Amino acid sequence: MYDVYEIRKQFPMLSKDIKMQNKPLVYLDNCSTTFKPQCVIDAEMSYYTKYNSNPLRGDYDLSYQIDLKVEEARKTVAKFINCSPNEVVFTDGATTALNMVAYGYGLKNLKKDDEIILSYSEHASNILPWFRIADLTGAKIKYIPLDDEGRITSENLLKVTSPKTKIVSIAHISNVLGYQADVKSLGKIAHEYGAIMVVDGAQSVPHISTDFKDLNVDFLAFSAHKMCGPTGIGALIGKYELLMDMDPLISGGNMNSTFVKEGKVDYRLPPYKFEAGTQNVAGILGFKAAVDFIQSIGIDNIDKHGKELFRYALDKLEGKDNIIIYNKDSNGSIITFNVKNVFAQDESTLLNYKGIAIRSGEHCAKLLDNFLKTKATCRMSTYLYTTKEEIDVFVDALINGGDILDAYFND
Ligand code: ALA
Repeated sequence: MYDVYEIRKQFPMLSKDIKMQNKPLVYLDNCSTTFKPQCVIDAEMSYYTKYNSNPLRGDYDLSYQIDLKVEEARKTVAKFINCSPNEVVFTDGATTALNMVAYGYGLKNLKKDDEIILSYSEHASNILPWFRIADLTGAKIKYIPLDDEGRITSENLLKVTSPKTKIVSIAHISNVLGYQADVKSLGKIAHEYGAIMVVDGAQSVPHISTDFKDLNVDFLAFSAHKMCGPTGIGALIGKYELLMDMDPLISGGNMNSTFVKEGKVDYRLPPYKFEAGTQNVAGILGFKAAVDFIQSIGIDNIDKHGKELFRYALDKLEGKDNIIIYNKDSNGSIITFNVKNVFAQDESTLLNYKGIAIRSGEHCAKLLDNFLKTKATCRMSTYLYTTKEEIDVFVDALINGGDILDAYFND
């Protein structure tokens, strides 16, 4: 039985003492980042209080203990995603992971006129690294046209693929519209053209069951902080043979086995080849605790909870003609909307006065404005601890906002 109130007790940020504008905080910006339960905070802290040493370098017990902890965390992430532990590269988040693929694989393998396929709904992290690689190699960027609802379909991918397609890179779940792309089918098409399939899992891994082997994609990037884990840590999951072939983005200590003055370097095998320098070890311990925490609740239960809240909010907003919803047919935990004649940032400022945190603007997906026919939208996003009561507060604030200045002064 999913007991959201019991779950909430584990989050210090959900204590009654945390207020915004002197009102109970209603946090609905979980696509940006999620709160952390005490077990994650404790795990991260345990590094500083119990295990503080540099992994994979020391010939003493303390260092050996932390080696085991890091590898235990790697195994936990691998099991969660269904891949082999040596396919889990710790990175400082999804952005770095995607840059690692762009520079490590793209720069090495692309040549002039090769094609990189993206979509208009991608986050900057899955567009800008590819722009750089296109600049550096002469490769071309192409976009999958979105369908009428804003979804990415196999049919539309087929309209832009060609024998020159080398990379298809798509978010599993859009951070604005919340739609889930069928990356398994998209990947199958990419492979038929001899291209690799890269998946930005920043908004999917925290919400839906993700099976790397079953999806049969080539790379998957995600961040811990969007799934109750610490900031500054995440993972790049890559098929081992591709990790073997890929160049490291960052070079330094512990990723090489030898180097000589003439410039020849022998790299360590993946994943270590991609983990130069001292890693965010405290973050890795917190990441493991976050995965354990999510598994203790069950990712399918988390998914179901997000979908229920989405339907609940949508039902309450039904018939409110002054509220434009851009993703009514999504079944995720994101509602992207505008209030007619109110600028998105004004609306989120108004909600802030009522203790409600949402995000407004372009949400880093700056190519989506043509589809949305507006530059800025408001986005509310829930997570495993969000309650129906919080949705009620949000919907009431939205409906009774009225004229933004009147609403503020009458509050
Ligand atoms: N990528 C985060 C978001 O979509 C920051 O809000």
